[in-house]
Amino acid sequence: MCGIVGYVGRQSALDVALDGLHRLEYRGYDSAGVAILDTAGALVIERRAGKLVNLDRALAELGPIPGTTGMGHTRWATHGGPTDQNAHPHTDCLGMIAVVHNGIIENFTALRDELERQGHMFRSDTDTEVAAHLLEQMLRGRLAENGADLAAAFTEAFRRTCRCLDGSFTLLAVHRDLPDLMLGARRNSPLVVGLGEGENFLASDVAAFIAHTRDAVEIGQDEVVELRADRVTVTDLDGSVTAPRHYHVDWDAAAAQKGGHPYFMLKEILEQPLAVADTLRGRLTADGAISLDEERLSPQDFRYVDKVFIVACGTAYHAGLIAKYAIEHWTRMPCEVDIASEFRYRDPVLDRATLVVAISQSGETLDTLMAVKHAQEQKARVLAICNTNGSTIPRESDAVLYTRAGPEVGVAATKTFLTQCVATYLVALHLARVRGTLFGDEIGRVVEDLGGMPAQIEKVLDTVEPVRALARELADSKSVLFLGRHVGYPTALEGALKLKELAYMHAEGFPAGELKHGPIALVEDGTPVVVCVPSPLGRNTLHGKVISNIQEVRARGARTIVIAEEGDDAVLPFAEHVIRVPRVPSLLFPLVATVPLQVFACELALARGLDVDQPRNLAKSVTVE
Ligand code: M6R
Repeated sequence: MCGIVGYVGRQSALDVALDGLHRLEYRGYDSAGVAILDTAGALVIERRAGKLVNLDRALAELGPIPGTTGMGHTRWATHGGPTDQNAHPHTDCLGMIAVVHNGIIENFTALRDELERQGHMFRSDTDTEVAAHLLEQMLRGRLAENGADLAAAFTEAFRRTCRCLDGSFTLLAVHRDLPDLMLGARRNSPLVVGLGEGENFLASDVAAFIAHTRDAVEIGQDEVVELRADRVTVTDLDGSVTAPRHYHVDWDAAAAQKGGHPYFMLKEILEQPLAVADTLRGRLTADGAISLDEERLSPQDFRYVDKVFIVACGTAYHAGLIAKYAIEHWTRMPCEVDIASEFRYRDPVLDRATLVVAISQSGETLDTLMAVKHAQEQKARVLAICNTNGSTIPRESDAVLYTRAGPEVGVAATKTFLTQCVATYLVALHLARVRGTLFGDEIGRVVEDLGGMPAQIEKVLDTVEPVRALARELADSKSVLFLGRHVGYPTALEGALKLKELAYMHAEGFPAGELKHGPIALVEDGTPVVVCVPSPLGRNTLHGKVISNIQEVRARGARTIVIAEEGDDAVLPFAEHVIRVPRVPSLLFPLVATVPLQVFACELALARGLDVDQPRNLAKSVTVE
């Protein structure tokens, strides 16, 4: 996820762009850059790896850049490491055209090969740079066909460029010789227009221009904006003028960095359908294989794997526990899950045929990194699942699958957990394919089920309001217990962890069948017990057993809160509150059942007056052992 801002008007474009970038930095801080069309007729570009402060410093040294048209970009790296060279804006061969981009151009390899054949010189590892060269190529063709109206030719070339791109994009472009024009387009990625007096704005989020105007225009899928100081024209990719929706933003600049949400955690919970969709995007190749992002292992290496270990911490560890069920079920291989800080001290049995899967949002968690190093010393292969491009754990690993959740600012992991689960399902399918334990059509069916999950998660989010009321009602509880079986058990653990870290409350997750061996002593009159109930349509008898477990705690005075799929009426006689989730395949249950648990913990913490984005004693990335 990147942040984009564009401006055409009467103020200093550099000041507007930088101010906008500061408000958008939550979207990514791998690098930042600006392109300004200066009053002397030059296209000035400045960009720096790292946080925005690095760009601020470089620009301060450079001195003022007078100009009233310009754009800025803050990057969350996907293709290519977080370097100066990969920072946006990117330019064409001649430095006449500059583009900034948010999203993933899935066909960039094919486009790049073709453009290189035509003589274009690439200077970065990004997918974005193809857009600059393609635009250059299209413009050349358009001018040759239709003569000298540069603005018309540039706009048409931009539309043609967008038509050639697969994947998701918000794309802005300027041309050195068109100082009063900026073009923008979007597909599956955000772009809004801000309407000012004699000035107009483009941005990924209204946060970028909220200090200047609250009048905004929503840009539809596959629409192109021509932005000038005195007018905004929106067309579709064929050039027909459209009538986009105008709206007034009813929140102020202070809330802007959170994209209009009162806190990051809520924003991130709501982003989960998109994060899951992005993590899945383009993963299944035409021949049924799952594509990883970096693969320094051959299919042969994967074929010889005879055992999997998963190492991770905190929430990522819970994703690992869920992965175990999928890996063992689909690959028929044993899989062990270790808390990373314990792994190397217990002297696990590892060899060349062991695959160690390291799961980490940040890619910098030292406990997980040390587990990776230990695995490598023992000659095991390591595959990283990570959300942060360019971080240490993927760099140290033999293969990488990135979760594309975008930056997660709230310290409590939410959207990264769901995307970690999705990524582990993909790894399990990859292993099943190379080992021949699942056929291509079976893999295709699971990938299809996964493809339906963003809509199912969206449904949960649409119906989650009663969970908030319940959380407020239970805010004074002393302790909350969470129960589950099968993948419902790690889901219960994650629900308990969210409540501990956000609400500073005693919360424990247990396998529902283990309760009678001790933990049931914790249940007293009024203790809230949250139970994750598996589908009654599952192949085994789990559903009935969990219903019995609910009755056991209820008989001892518990307030039972039951998460059950739509249509499961067997839970009704024993549940004080029922939270409904859509019916999904059993292994995918955590993707829908975790969401109400996140909302529950968040709301309960808020009801206790706590800061849900920065809970006490915690840090987003833990780089000490
Ligand atoms: O960056 P990582 O995924 O390696 O971080 C692991 C844990 O520190 C992290 O999941 C932590 O438990 C979160 N605060 C959970 O919400």
